[in-house]
Amino acid sequence: PIGAQHFVPPRAHELDELKAAAAHCEGCELYQNATQTVFGRGDAHARVVFVGEQPGDVEDQKGLPFVGPAGRLLREAVDDAGIDPGHVYITNAVKHFRFELRGKRRIHQSPGPAHITACRPWLVAEFALLKPELLVVLGATAAKALLGPSFRVTRSRGQLMPWPASAQHPGDFPVAEIQALATIHPSAVLRADDRDAAYQSLVDDLKVAATALA
Ligand code: URA
Ligand code: SF4
Repeated sequence: PIGAQHFVPPRAHELDELKAAAAHCEGCELYQNATQTVFGRGDAHARVVFVGEQPGDVEDQKGLPFVGPAGRLLREAVDDAGIDPGHVYITNAVKHFRFELRGKRRIHQSPGPAHITACRPWLVAEFALLKPELLVVLGATAAKALLGPSFRVTRSRGQLMPWPASAQHPGDFPVAEIQALATIHPSAVLRADDRDAAYQSLVDDLKVAATALA
C-alpha cells in the first residue's frame, strides 16, 4: 500500500479538514469495498482519546465510529469508570471496514499489519491536533498500531505507561510525551463467556485511566 500520508493535508488546523480529506483516502485497498471512510469523532478538546480497531458493519454504513453494539458498551463502561463520555474523542487504528463476503453477509476481518501501517498517518494527524493527555488503546489491533507488535494486551492491560516511549517506533509519532493505557476491546466483552466479569474488568481498567485525568 502507498499509505495514507499522501492524503493527509500537511497543515490542517481542524479535525474536520482531516475528516474531509480522509473521505478520499486510497492509502490501502480497503477503501475499494467499504462503504465510506469512518473518521474519529468527539470532543476536539478531549483530554483522552480512545483508539479501537476499525469500523464495524454498522459504523461502515453510518459513517461514524463506535455507533453499534460495541460502541454502546464502551460508552457505558466509560461512564461507569467516572469519565464523562461527552468529553472524549473516539477513533480507530484503521478507518475502513475490512470484511469478507459470505453470501450476502459481510464478515468482519481484522486488518493486517500493512493496513495498520498504511492508516497510521491519520492517527498521527488526529493526535497532533487533539494533543490529548492520555490514549486508551482498545484491543490487539490498536495495540499493534500504537504499542508495537510484541505488546500483549492480556499481560499488560490496565497499566499507565509513557507514550510514545512505549511504542515500537516512537519516532513515528511526532507528538509530546503523554500516557497510554491498554485494555480489552469492547467487542471482546460482548463475546466473553462471562460477560459481567469481562465488563467489570474493562471498567476497572478505565478507572485506572480516570486516575490519569483526575
Ligand atoms: N469496533 C471498533 O474497533 N471500532 C468501531 O468503530 C466499532 C467497532
Ligand atoms: Fe486510507 Fe486507512 Fe482507508 Fe486504507 S484503511 S484507504 S489507509 S483511510
